[in-house]
Amino acid sequence: MYILSFESSCDDTSVALLKDNKVLCCEVSSQVKIHSQFGGVVPEIASREHLRNIDFVLNEVLKKSEISLNKIDLFASTYAPGLIGSLLVGLNFAKSLAYYFKKPFLGINHLEGHFFSPFIENKDIEYPVLSLIVSGGHTSIYFSKEPLKYELLCSTRDDAAGEAFDKISKLLGLGYPGGPVIDKIYMENENVKPIKFPMPKISDGSNAFSYSGLKTRFLMEYGKLENKNLNDENVISLIRGAEEGIVNQLLKYLKIFSEKYDPKTITLSGGVACNSLLRRKVREIFEKRFNLGIPSPFYSTDNAAMIGYAAYMRFKKGFRSPLSLNAKSSLEL
Ligand code: KG4
Ligand code: ZN
Repeated sequence: MYILSFESSCDDTSVALLKDNKVLCCEVSSQVKIHSQFGGVVPEIASREHLRNIDFVLNEVLKKSEISLNKIDLFASTYAPGLIGSLLVGLNFAKSLAYYFKKPFLGINHLEGHFFSPFIENKDIEYPVLSLIVSGGHTSIYFSKEPLKYELLCSTRDDAAGEAFDKISKLLGLGYPGGPVIDKIYMENENVKPIKFPMPKISDGSNAFSYSGLKTRFLMEYGKLENKNLNDENVISLIRGAEEGIVNQLLKYLKIFSEKYDPKTITLSGGVACNSLLRRKVREIFEKRFNLGIPSPFYSTDNAAMIGYAAYMRFKKGFRSPLSLNAKSSLEL
């Protein structure tokens, strides 16, 4: 079956065509250049840009894959969580096509899309799966014993890990998104010793990520520096410390829950899964004992292929969504 899927929950307009669970084409139009001047995504601008781009992105997919819309068997789109104005563009586009061509429609949770993104390039991923979904909006660990069943084990009390990268980058005047720039500085200065950022303590003792303390600490330490030049060793040491502080929290909870739940596979997904230090450390620590599902950077960040993959999994199990399905800004998996 041919599946046409849409993703527009934040600032990427993406359309993909799948034949069953095989991705034939996936196009992404990024708005990063527009939002970078504001240091983050501006929701009103994002939805207008989706409206402007979606038709163009769809036509690229149809042209590249030489398929016409009347051959599509299932239309799918992200419906939650995300920016409402942004979500509505892809969702209404997919629903309208399903209505016009009298074909089924499936609304997909963006997080379920991320959960499946490691499966796109690795069809042999075995359950149970321990999945770290870490992006600009989410930092969560899920345990999935069998397909389409999810248990949320841990999430963030305040900021998401990607948000911490983005805020630090904004403070340093390095623009949006922050993760790739900070990561680059980290990797290019392996000789500079990182400042230690303490692991946060959650007051009620529960397992949760927390990044607001790290951000405040960064702000304080940076404020104290006399020389704020990006080439200065003290600034680099602070940046390298922040990256390690962010990544160490992710590793801490992956260790705790992999011990406790003993999964067959550990997967990463979301924009922060592109992080070089995280990828390296996860391989070093977990590769011997667990299978790993680490997607290429293209499928780690937001894309419609992961939404199409999740739609395929749900369609097989008999799921269908009504055309009355509405967008939701927040929703757990
Ligand atoms: O999944 P994604 O494309 O969109 C959301 O759903 O948020 O993730 C974007 C986030 C941004 O916060 C960005 O700074 C972060 O992913 N990111 C990275 C890297 N590449 C992107 N964070 C750390 N290291 C990277 N290499
Ligand atoms: Zn995402």
